[in-house]
Amino acid sequence: MDAVLNYLEQHQKRFVAELAEYVRFASVSAQTAHNGDMSRCATWLVKHCQQIGLRARLCPTAGHPVVLASTPPVSRRRGQPSRRHFMVYGHYDVQPPEPFELWQTPPFEPVVRNGALFGRGASDNKGQHFAHLKAVEAFLKTGQPLPVDLTFVIEGEEEVGSRSLEAFLKAHRSLLSRCDGVVVSDTGMPGPRHPALTYALRGIVGLEIIVHGPSRDLHSGIFGGSVENPAMALCQLLAKVRDAQGRITIPGFYDPVLPLSKFEREQLARVPFDAERYRRFLGVPRLFGECGFTPNEQRTARPTFEINGLTSGYQGEGSKTIVPAWARAKITARLVPRQRPERVLKKICAFLKKHCPPTVRLEIRNGHGSDAYYVSPRSADAQAALRALREAFEAEPLLLREGGSIPIVHQFKKVLGLDTLLVGLALPDDNAHSPNEKFDLDVFARGQRMSALLWRELANGRRS
Ligand code: BES
Ligand code: ZN
Repeated sequence: MDAVLNYLEQHQKRFVAELAEYVRFASVSAQTAHNGDMSRCATWLVKHCQQIGLRARLCPTAGHPVVLASTPPVSRRRGQPSRRHFMVYGHYDVQPPEPFELWQTPPFEPVVRNGALFGRGASDNKGQHFAHLKAVEAFLKTGQPLPVDLTFVIEGEEEVGSRSLEAFLKAHRSLLSRCDGVVVSDTGMPGPRHPALTYALRGIVGLEIIVHGPSRDLHSGIFGGSVENPAMALCQLLAKVRDAQGRITIPGFYDPVLPLSKFEREQLARVPFDAERYRRFLGVPRLFGECGFTPNEQRTARPTFEINGLTSGYQGEGSKTIVPAWARAKITARLVPRQRPERVLKKICAFLKKHCPPTVRLEIRNGHGSDAYYVSPRSADAQAALRALREAFEAEPLLLREGGSIPIVHQFKKVLGLDTLLVGLALPDDNAHSPNEKFDLDVFARGQRMSALLWRELANGRRS
């Protein structure tokens, strides 16, 4: 193991330069204008995997291609126990970088500043899975035997709901279902000295609602007052969804939700938290959330209903006195274990239809959905992950529930029967999905070490 860890230490400078090269691709999956960047990025990644000694290829899908890479086969002498095999999942697609003017340096011109690499995708998720690739490189280049077999699945549609990945998993079921589990670094850690194993993620359900009013924008002086304003109707409708205590008022929304256990509340309470610092970090005059829960509980273990976008009427320079023809909103609800996306969607739709006034026409377009994830943090593999985190970060790891969603993790269980170990490397101030995204370089180095140690620990353990 020393040779592997030394190799990692010696090559940090090159690793950072390579990560910068990777971040330079504007692999924005949501915007078709970037389709060329998407495929160039995936091709670069395949080549990179090959250079470090993996067998890699690009797998086309109905959407963006998947990079599939495996460690070279190891011949096994008779009588030796079978080797364990893990899938490492990540995504090379990134969120749109807008608004550009808020970036201190351009999103796809990565630079190192204050011990971090800045650029869209540096943390979510290129830097995180790159740490695992570098750990494997260290084994392969030093000739040290890898304790387990590995298959990397790096997709290009995570940020848009992993639409093509279920079909990919089914097509590669014979290879992938041989795995003993999945390892994913695409979650967070509360601080540089607070590594974490995440055992639950929120699910999600998305929809878009359009309130149609008059057949065209109208003069608000001539017609206003005699016709419903769709923007107002939409605001009033959405305002009914949540009460002053921060509770969602949609009947049945919370029905299947389990109360937080004492253990969970204790674990979440261990996460260092200062409400005033958090308030300032977010830039809000006051925090807000569902009554009866701490902010960390609210944002990781409670369901929400969020307006992601709201559009209507005239947005250009100056003013324009109209009653707009329509108003629309993009919505997502974050779900917790046992809330099913289809059922929640039905309840949301029924509520909106019931409360929409007859003076406008309501159109609802369904979006993507995925189940929440929950896995026991007490399994032998989870313990192995905790040991690797502890050693690499020289600190006691936390057990976390997290608020983000990784839709495919539920599919790993459903399609392949595999549990996922979530060992995230993103810091709370990494600015994922925001301007000035960055990845901490000390966390990058420790993440590589954690990965190397993890394979040793997982090889020794058996699933409980
Ligand atoms: N890395 C995040 C998910 C995440 C972030 C999990 C922080 C836990 C903590 C991932 O890239 C992401 O942003 N997922 C999307 C999924 C959505 C588009 C379906 C999300 O959570 O919004
Ligand atoms: Zn993301």
